Amino acid sequence: MSTKAPFIKDLSLPVIAAPMFLIYGPKLVIECCKNGIVGTFPALNQRTSEGFEEWLIEIKSALKKHEQETGRKAAPFGVNLIVHQTNPRLEADIKLCIKHQVPLVITSLGAVSQVVDAIHSYGGLVFHDVIKKRHAQKAAEAGVDGLILVAAGAGGHAGTINPMTLVSEIKQFFKKTIILSGCISTGRDIASALQMGADLAYMGTRFINTEESKATPEYRSMIVEAGASDVVYTAAISGVHANFLGASLKAAGITEEDLKKDIKIDFGKELDTEAKAWKTIWSAGQGVALIDDVLPVSSLVSNLKSEFKKAIEEQIKVLETFPK
Ligand SMILES: Cc1cc2nc3c(=O)[nH]c(=O)nc-3n(C[C@H](O)[C@H](O)[C@H](O)COP(=O)(O)O)c2cc1C
Repeated sequence: MSTKAPFIKDLSLPVIAAPMFLIYGPKLVIECCKNGIVGTFPALNQRTSEGFEEWLIEIKSALKKHEQETGRKAAPFGVNLIVHQTNPRLEADIKLCIKHQVPLVITSLGAVSQVVDAIHSYGGLVFHDVIKKRHAQKAAEAGVDGLILVAAGAGGHAGTINPMTLVSEIKQFFKKTIILSGCISTGRDIASALQMGADLAYMGTRFINTEESKATPEYRSMIVEAGASDVVYTAAISGVHANFLGASLKAAGITEEDLKKDIKIDFGKELDTEAKAWKTIWSAGQGVALIDDVLPVSSLVSNLKSEFKKAIEEQIKVLETFPK
């Protein structure tokens, strides 16, 4: 029996549109799933569990309607949960995932077997994000179905390890679904992720620049204008190292000195402070280098599909030359 997530074979591309704080609402999730890729959102993008449930209902009914109207299956959707004692909503949000049978739950911070068991109870899958081998081993022990490997240069709370090493190192002991995250912006990047040994590509920053995202026009323009070296890796904004657009730090009056500070994060009490910070200081990965437009999700997915196909075809041609 395959140890890989069964839904992969039904997708139009091996892609998960990665959850992003303040960027996702139901509209973006629904468009992704309608176009055959996994759409996800952080539960905390809604301020309350009641609001979170409203979004779950909205997404489920839109996807059901789409399936009835087109006769085509939508891709599954996923929810990101912060598994940490400072998240006061965790228990209530897990109950809602069970109630609404959320197909995919993406856990961050803690990989806990009780959470995995709760989601497995109705047939849901749990993917967990990690930046290093030790975290991956713990998550594997907790029984997660997939590991999201967040490599260097990713948007949000990025890691520091090169993606090639990260995938190879973790594949040695983890035989279930491997998802690669960090700087995947084009169809060629998706093909490269698969070449490295990942089963799925996890794309964040690219989806900020879609018409359906909640990002402001200024945020999107800054992404279009930025190159890889305009992205700054700092712990000063949320207490955990993350990548931010240098121009947004500058616009907020944040100096080199400020960047050396270490502010402690608290996902519960300080949620508002955290939201305020991420609203003015914009996160993005080094993949900005290859983003120069804002597209509707349908056009983006269509472009990604042709780029992916072209990249694979070029790879096959390489076989005519090598090995000699
Ligand atoms: C603005 C922004 C917000 C993010 N918020 C979250 C979040 O709430 N939860 C989470 O698990 N990851 C979050 N991430 C990380 C993404 O899910 C994903 O791992 C990352 O964006 C992939 O790298 P890329 O942006 O280079 O494609 C965020 C990333 C960005 C850019």
